[in-house]
Order: sequence, then structure tokens, then C-alpha cells
Amino acid sequence: MSSPISSQRLIQRIVNLAAIGQDPAGGITRPFGSDADLRARRAFQAEVEKAGLAYHVDAAGNQWAVLAGADAFAKMIAVGSHLDTVPHGGAYDGSAGVLMALEAIQSLSVAGYRSRHPLAVVAFTGEEPNPFGLSTLGSRLFTGRLEGQDLLDYTDGDGRSLQDALKRVGGDLSQCNTLNPDRIAAFIEPHVEQSGRLDELGLPVAVVDQITGIYRDQVTLTGEQNHAGTTPLAKRRDALNAFGRAVVGMDAMLRDVWPEWMVGTIGQVRVYPNAVNIVPSEVTFTVELRSTNMAQLQRGAERYREHLTDELERWGIAVTIRNLLNQAPQPLSSAIQKVLVDSARARHVKPPVLSSWAGHDATHIARRVPAGMLFVRSLGGKSHCPDEESRPADLALAAEIIYDALIVLDQSLEEVLAGGAAI
Ligand code: GLV
Ligand code: MN
Ligand code: MN
Repeated sequence: MSSPISSQRLIQRIVNLAAIGQDPAGGITRPFGSDADLRARRAFQAEVEKAGLAYHVDAAGNQWAVLAGADAFAKMIAVGSHLDTVPHGGAYDGSAGVLMALEAIQSLSVAGYRSRHPLAVVAFTGEEPNPFGLSTLGSRLFTGRLEGQDLLDYTDGDGRSLQDALKRVGGDLSQCNTLNPDRIAAFIEPHVEQSGRLDELGLPVAVVDQITGIYRDQVTLTGEQNHAGTTPLAKRRDALNAFGRAVVGMDAMLRDVWPEWMVGTIGQVRVYPNAVNIVPSEVTFTVELRSTNMAQLQRGAERYREHLTDELERWGIAVTIRNLLNQAPQPLSSAIQKVLVDSARARHVKPPVLSSWAGHDATHIARRVPAGMLFVRSLGGKSHCPDEESRPADLALAAEIIYDALIVLDQSLEEVLAGGAAI
């Protein structure tokens, strides 16, 4: 099967985007609301306009590039991911997916393909955690999982308004009630795999069956500030010492027997007053647990919360826990999985079906729209770090699979969605 996918254009775009938000301390830092985020959005808009697609930004700040369809009543078929990055992140997480989508749809346009449905590339706003503490912001606003009206007074830790940040990129929280995911008939998120499974199998792509659940808490440990030299051991209520117990407790819990995959991470640690000669009085940190089994995720979260209160209160430490996120695992459409598997096989690749251990915008879209994901091999399984890498040939192959899958979805959407299951 042939296609006019340009591997060179795709890779050049990835390289160009990677230049935006280069952090002197390493990698790319391009969180939602930063100047780099704004520059990346402008660069994407310029590429979309060069590709001859119609560009618009919705109320959630999501960027859309649309190839018009022949049927004025047909719903849209959308493909995409996100352009923002974690701090000191890599060039592929999110961006590669948006640019593979652009490559596939631009190539359909160049080939003179006349689609029935509008075909759209989407770059969702703020997928990664950001100063506002709201990851997958654009896809959650788009699907009504976050209400724009409820966030009008929302600010980050420095008092910056979310509404101002969103307006700066062309969105408007007060208009998010006009967003309607039902105008999308099907969605595919191409993304780098981010773990080492494909690399170990020696395979270029995989199809995703479900996306991990994610649980996050913000924890504050409060002890007592006092003199480092004159406070005897028995009288110290050292919040940093307690934090050490919290870290060891997380590791011990995870190494206990859990029937299915579960991982946990402690991050965003702040110590007060953080001085050389003062007993620390306060530590705040985030706790994150992930599993594709919701019951296990809930049990893990409860058990860890109990550990924190039971273990640390014995040491005179007050524990305050605020839940930030409790997101269930999300199955993806078996019908779209089948289209992706068949499209890969037609290109002589047998893709394994894998669960995603990373979170994605597709989690939220899949609750409203039949959605699937295509993974591309990540070399060495590295991600959320500057060493993230995928091979040009794998990325081009994935763009070709998306190209083919779009044609199948465009021409036989009703049959595909009615057909469902069996891969
Ligand atoms: C998103 O990148 C996540 O899995 O945290
Ligand atoms: Mn990420
Ligand atoms: Mn991502």
C-alpha cells in the first residue's frame, strides 16, 4: 500500500518544535501558560496554514486543523495529542502525536483524497501537569469533565488567573459550555509508547486497549519549627524526618504483593523553612499511584493514606491530605483498535495490544467518543526526560497507519463502529 507520507517533513517538524522551550538546565520545558507554550502553538498554527488546513482555537484553547469533508452533515474524525511538555522533558511526548496526525491529514489532502467527514488534527491544551495543577485541561474542558464556569476565579500558586492564561492562547472559560464532543464521530491519539515494551519486543508500533487509572493526593506534614542544636531528640517534631518515613512507606507498600501492575511516585517536595540549623516544621509533597485495576488503585490509595496517618501521627506530626485526582482506568474502543490493527497488518506489521501506563487526553475523549491509540516504539523506554527518542522510520510508519485508518473510518464509519470487537 502506498501513501504520500513525507518522513522528512514529519521529522523536520519534530526537530523544529523541539527547539521551542529548550531549558538551559536540560531538555524542553514548555508547560501550559508559558511563553514557550505560546510559541509552540504559533509554530503549529503556521504549519497548519502552510498545509492548507483550516485553523481554529476552541474555548478550551484546543487547536484544530480541519480538512473539510464533502458531507455537510457528517461528524468529524479527529486525530491528535498535545504540544506542552513536562519540565526538562523530551521532544516526542505529545508533539510527535500531533505532528504524525498533521502529516497523515496533510498527506490525504496532497493526495487529493476527498473525504466524506471533516478530518481534524487536534492539539489539546495543557495535557501535562502545569502550575495550575490541572493536567489534561483541554480534553477535560472539551468533554465537560471540568466546567469552565467553575474555574473562572481559579489561580495558580503565584496568583496567576487560569482565565487570563487561557485567553492568552485564544480560549475563554466562560464559553466552554459551547464545546460539544458529540460533533466528533471517532478519535485516535498517536503517541510514543514511553515504556520499553516495544523496544524489547523489537516492534515499531502497538495498539492500545486501555489507559491506566491515576490517583493523586497533595500531602502536608506539619511538625514544629525549633532550634537544630538545642532541641533534644525526644522533643523534636521534625517534618522532614517524617517525610523520609513517608517515602520508605510508599516503597514498602509497592513492594508488597499486588496482583496487578501498580506504581507510585512522590514528587513536588517543598520543605519549610529549609535551613541548615532549624528543625523543619512543614513538608508538602504529592503522592501518585497508577494501576489499570481501579479496585487495586483504590485499595493502594487507602492503604497509603492509613500508613501516613497511623505511622506519622505517632511521631507528633499532623497529616493533612487533599485529593487532587482519582481517575479510573479507561478502556478504548475495540472497533477502533481493530481498524488500527488491520491498518498496521496491511503495512506488514503485527502490532501487539498493550495497556498504556501513561495518562493521555484520550482517557477523557473516550468517555464521550469511540477512541483509540496507536503507540510508537520509544527507544530504551525513556520518557519525561531529555533522552526521549523514537526512530524516524517508526514515526513515518505510524503516520502511514493513521493515514490508512482515516480512510477506513471515513468510508465505513457506521460499519466499523457497529462491528466492534474481535481483533
Ligand atoms: C502524562 O504524561 C502522564 O502520564 O503523566
Ligand atoms: Mn507526558
Ligand atoms: Mn503525552
